[in-house]
This record gives sequence, C-alpha cells and structure tokens, in this order.
Amino acid sequence: MKKKNIIVVGLQWGDEGKGKIVDLLAKDVDIIARYQGGNNAGHTVVAGDLSLVFRLIPSGILNEEKICLLGNGVVIDPVVLFEELDNLKKINIKIKDRFFVSNKCHIIMPYHKRLDIARERLRGAGMIGTTGRGIGPTYEDKVARLGIRAIDLLDRQLFYDKIVLSLKEKNYLFKNVLGENVFDPDELIEDYINYGKKLKEYLVDTSRFIAERLDSGSNLMLEGAQGTFLDVDHGTYPYVTSSNTLAGGAFAGAGLGPTRIDEVIGITKAYTTRVGEGYFPTELKGGTGSIIRDKGEEFGSVTGRPRRCGWFDANLIREAKYLNGVTGMIITKLDVLSGLPEISICTGYMFRGSKIHQLPASFSECCEVKPLYEEMPGWEGDISGIRSFKDLPVNSQKYILRLEELTGIPVNIVSLGKERNQTLILNDVFCKSPAVL
Ligand code: IMP
Repeated sequence: MKKKNIIVVGLQWGDEGKGKIVDLLAKDVDIIARYQGGNNAGHTVVAGDLSLVFRLIPSGILNEEKICLLGNGVVIDPVVLFEELDNLKKINIKIKDRFFVSNKCHIIMPYHKRLDIARERLRGAGMIGTTGRGIGPTYEDKVARLGIRAIDLLDRQLFYDKIVLSLKEKNYLFKNVLGENVFDPDELIEDYINYGKKLKEYLVDTSRFIAERLDSGSNLMLEGAQGTFLDVDHGTYPYVTSSNTLAGGAFAGAGLGPTRIDEVIGITKAYTTRVGEGYFPTELKGGTGSIIRDKGEEFGSVTGRPRRCGWFDANLIREAKYLNGVTGMIITKLDVLSGLPEISICTGYMFRGSKIHQLPASFSECCEVKPLYEEMPGWEGDISGIRSFKDLPVNSQKYILRLEELTGIPVNIVSLGKERNQTLILNDVFCKSPAVL
C-alpha cells in the first residue's frame, strides 16, 4: 500500500502544539520537512526527561532513523541553526546524513534583525508584536531580489557584492530614518563565510531530494510553522507573519506539487491563544483567561511573552478547514480546561446587527465583531492519565464531539499533556481505521 504524504498545519494563531504532534507522527514517515518561517517558531517536544524547543530544525529530529529537511521557503539564522545542531549533538542525536538544508533558503542577516526591531519601534502603538528575529525583513529582501541564499555563502565575491547592494538602502534607513548604527560589509563577511563553510555539508536541492525519495517509495510529512491566521495573505493582516503558513504554502516552500499530498492534518488547541498584537474575538482578559494561561503554561516558547487566551472559535477553524483543505483534526491541551465550571464555544459573531460566521476582511470592521457563544458544562479532575476516549469524563467527550460537529472536521487525535503517551488516537492519520467517535 502506498504510504501517505501529509501536511501538518496550525489552524489558529500558532502554538497549537505542532511540535509534540510532529514528533509523534514522525514514526510513520520517512522524511520530515519544514517549508516556511524561521526561528520565530518554537516547537516543543517532550520525550521522557528531555524537553526540547526546536526553532528551526523539524520536530521529527528525535526520531533518529528519519530524514529532516529545511525546505527553500524557510529563512535561516545560522547562529540559531548551529546552536540547535550543537545542542542535539550534546545529547548524542545523530545529524550526519539525516539533516539537510535547501541551498535556496534565504539567510537572516544581522541587519534584518536590527531592521525588524527598529521598525517595530517606529510603528509605536501600531506595532505588530513580531518576535524580533528578522523574519519579515528577510522575506522582504527575498521578494525584492536582494536576499542572500544559503548557496551564496559559498561564493565570497558574490556574497560580498550582495551585502554591499543590500546595505545601500538599509544603511540610509538606519542612519536617516531609524536612528540606528549602520553596518559595514567588511565586518560581516568573515563570520558568514565561516557559517557557509559549516553549512556546506548540509546543503542540497531539497525539492529534487524529496522528488527522488517519493518516487522510490518514501513518504513525507511537511511541518508548518505558526498558524493559519498568521498567513501573510489569509491571516489577520497586518498582524501576521511574512510567509504563507497555509498548506498551500508547503508546495512552493518545499518545491513539490499538490498531487503528491494525501492528507492535510490541522492542529488546534481545545481553546485559543495568540501572542503579539491583532484582533482576537474570543479573548478572555483576566479571570478565566488567566486561569487558562497559568494552567496551560501559555508563555511564548521563543520570546517568553504571555500568550493571550480565549475560548475555542469554531468559525475560525471552519475557515481554516477551507483555507487548508483539512482532512483531519488534532485537538491539543484538552486537559487544561479541566476544572472550569462552564466552557464556551464561539459559534458566530454579531456584526452591525447581523449574525455572521466569518471575520470581515477589513481590520476596522473586525474590531467591531462581538462573539456569540454556546455554553457547555465543564468537567472535573486530572484527565492527563486517561488512555481511552470512552474513559474521559462524559462532558469532555461531549465537548470534543461538539467541536467536531461545529467545525465539520473529523478528529484524529486528542492530546492530554506534553508527554508522547498522553495522547488518544481516535483515527490513525496514516491508515484510515474506522472512526471511534
Ligand atoms: P514575526 O513572524 O516575528 O514577523 O511576527 C509576526 C507575528 O507572528 C507576531 O504577532 C508574532 O507574535 C507572531 N508569531 C510568529 N511566530 C509565531 C509562532 O511560532 N507562534 C505564535 N505566534 C508567532
């Protein structure tokens, strides 16, 4: 039987728990590849006593017989990449011959980071709340055809000329608009040529690599970073990241065609969180929001910022289903909701006197929507040790069933904690077994 190729995407604003799920699903795939974003992501994997946060390297890396790739759509800060590789080497995870980087990946340079932070300052109250990792400016340079690609680090003269060109405008901005120090290309070149030397052994044409492996019977999991509503086209613009986080972005970002993919698996928390600025209709300020934040340890894994917390928004997930072509859903952190007397689910919005089910496209109109909720009774007790759906408290079973009904997406997996074994598999993602629900 042909092994399935899947895409795993976040259905909300990121931080849905993709790290744990990708690590879990990795046992059934041969290749795991990231296709967008950079070290703005923070995918946490807990395996026994180990708790690791992967910013760049695919979360499947702990499964040692698997191949992990960074596709051409990923932007790479070499400082972070080599830190992460060193950390893996320290815990004796084998990297050689199983980790590869697209030679077309764009490189995050120190001037991208400075620009990211200075621009946020310039925006003042209208700041995006970026992670400050230089992600946006690196993608801007890519589109402006001023970017540095991984392969460029191997050609000293070409690399030097490219930095000089890129800095012509940027140094003007730093000096005259942003009040920042300028960059001297001569001070950048050595460090980055050295990174190039270290990177060389990992560089391949990842799209050709994937094509050849798929043709010879391997299967693939494409790991999205951030989430659907941080997509630069379809997210809550302008409060978004600078890449296409959607499943569609995976094809350009890894260099393969849509006909290769069999399933798109969407990950959502049992509630909603968001980090950074931007509208969030079901946000709970204080009270229950703080309870969820503390219990769910909802603090950014990259920046440590407290995440904004709120109720599950079925409208968003339904929209995410269409945007990504989702075929199955994984619900994480159900355990965090235990102990709440009542749980609300957003089923629509009131907007200028009418009920709507989709956020308006305009930012100012979005600020006017008021969420409409249905209430469900909560459940008591620690459910993280439960290993079968039928042993869950009845109200938590009803909650999952209601989420399935409201979103129209079949639930594959429910996660009840950080550990690999705190997971209920209801429908195997790779071989369609009959639904348990
Ligand atoms: P940037 O990606 O650093 O440019 O940040 C743009 C927006 O995306 C900000 O609101 C960030 O907080 C958010 N963001 C970026 N990466 C992540 C992530 O991995 N999880 C959640 N939010 C993220």
